[in-house]
Amino acid sequence: MQTLPSPAERAATFTMEDWRSGYRSQPQEFDYWIEDIEGTLPTALNGTLFRNGPGLLDIHGYAIRHPFDGDGMVSSIAFQNGRAYYRNRFVRTEGYVAEQAAKQPLYRGVFGTQKPGGWWNNLFDLRLKNIANTHVIYWGGKLLALWEAAEPHRLDPHSLDTLGLDDLEGVLKPGDAFAAHPRLDPGGAHTGQQPRLVTFSLKAGLSSTITLLEFDPQGQLLSRHGHTIPGFAFLHDFAITPHYAIFFQNPVSFNPFGFLLGLKGAAECIQFNPKQTTRILLIPRNGKGTVITVDAPPSFVFHHANAFEENGQVVIDSIAYPEFPALDEGMSYETVDFSKVPSGQLWRFRVDVEAQTVVAADTIIERCCEFPTLHPDHMGQPYRYLYIGAAHQPQGNAPLQALVKRDLQTGAEQFWSAAPRGFMGEPIFVPRPEGTAEDDGWVLCLIYNAARQCSDLVVLDAQRIDEGAIARLKLKHHVPYGLHGSFVPQYFGPAV
Ligand code: CO
Repeated sequence: MQTLPSPAERAATFTMEDWRSGYRSQPQEFDYWIEDIEGTLPTALNGTLFRNGPGLLDIHGYAIRHPFDGDGMVSSIAFQNGRAYYRNRFVRTEGYVAEQAAKQPLYRGVFGTQKPGGWWNNLFDLRLKNIANTHVIYWGGKLLALWEAAEPHRLDPHSLDTLGLDDLEGVLKPGDAFAAHPRLDPGGAHTGQQPRLVTFSLKAGLSSTITLLEFDPQGQLLSRHGHTIPGFAFLHDFAITPHYAIFFQNPVSFNPFGFLLGLKGAAECIQFNPKQTTRILLIPRNGKGTVITVDAPPSFVFHHANAFEENGQVVIDSIAYPEFPALDEGMSYETVDFSKVPSGQLWRFRVDVEAQTVVAADTIIERCCEFPTLHPDHMGQPYRYLYIGAAHQPQGNAPLQALVKRDLQTGAEQFWSAAPRGFMGEPIFVPRPEGTAEDDGWVLCLIYNAARQCSDLVVLDAQRIDEGAIARLKLKHHVPYGLHGSFVPQYFGPAV
């Protein structure tokens, strides 16, 4: 049995007041060279880090019920020759523009934010507000802000100005879903192919249809095929290998009545069924052959770290929760009791493809963790090093304050923590140009620093995580806790 830290021990690593202060709205938009730097920014680190996440936690004083309902705000940090330029812009979605003009919420949020006026005013209002807050990617010459239930918004990569909804050269019809977790298949030496963007579109219901989409580096569609599976599916992320797209159909069902009646957000109607199995779906990427379905122990997975093929097995590394981490009715995220919410751990699942069974499901990282990253050339391929946001304490649920580097071959770990007053966002591994070792590069972490009430961009040497930051870039303001982002080698800052 795990020994859980006492409330006093937990309090030693963070305070709720500090943690909560990272969830203040950031209504301002900035452009500036980052001048306040501790340490030295490597001159070989060139390119642009894009990050997305909720920028507003309230709409003109009306608090949103869950941060996932917050309007998307994209930040960019452009690096060139040891200097860095910060910029942030809200995505001018239809909903953001309308609500800012009306000075009040006009839509219901998927995660429970309701319009003012009580349930009557929310009854049968099923319009979704495409808040473009989950991820930002650069592919085919386009910067796209993603939100999984609707089309992407295209942004100018230099100015971050919103250019409008993007249908990917006619691939998407108005209102089509487009997942917020594309995978970049690096191609190259591994497959003899050029890189590809692999993603999906989900229609969930009594049965669910997954449409798999692959794009070439120019953004042209290479393949598209749909697969209908029995039952409701909540699919936020997926994983790839050279032959398969891998989905975890979590053991959840959807009871829409609270949503239809205007009492709850759609995501609040998801129910976890611990007596069901998780179904692992292997969809052949070439569209030929049938979907392989394999039962696995019940858990809830938002994010996968990576997957690869090895000796007739498909190996999948995922962050598994013992159940759907829902908020209790009437509870606010701001007063959440971390000890009562399930925490994620890194699990490794091994599927025997021929026998269609899970032959192993092992815990790799027991410490509460989320937001994995790895060398992009190893996506879908065997890999050795994983970097992941983690709790400061080795046991129990807590906010992410630390970074773990795990050697998956030896089990060795390196650890760096921003506790007690720092809170970790999604780390991103950036390979060093000309580097050959898998861990030759940097890990970039946007941290909320409660001591300054501002955010810091921390750069770590990926081979020496435990030595701490080699550079800390102090932003002039805070960026509310975000979701996902990307690093691209192109520099999108001002001319120098
Ligand atoms: Co995600």
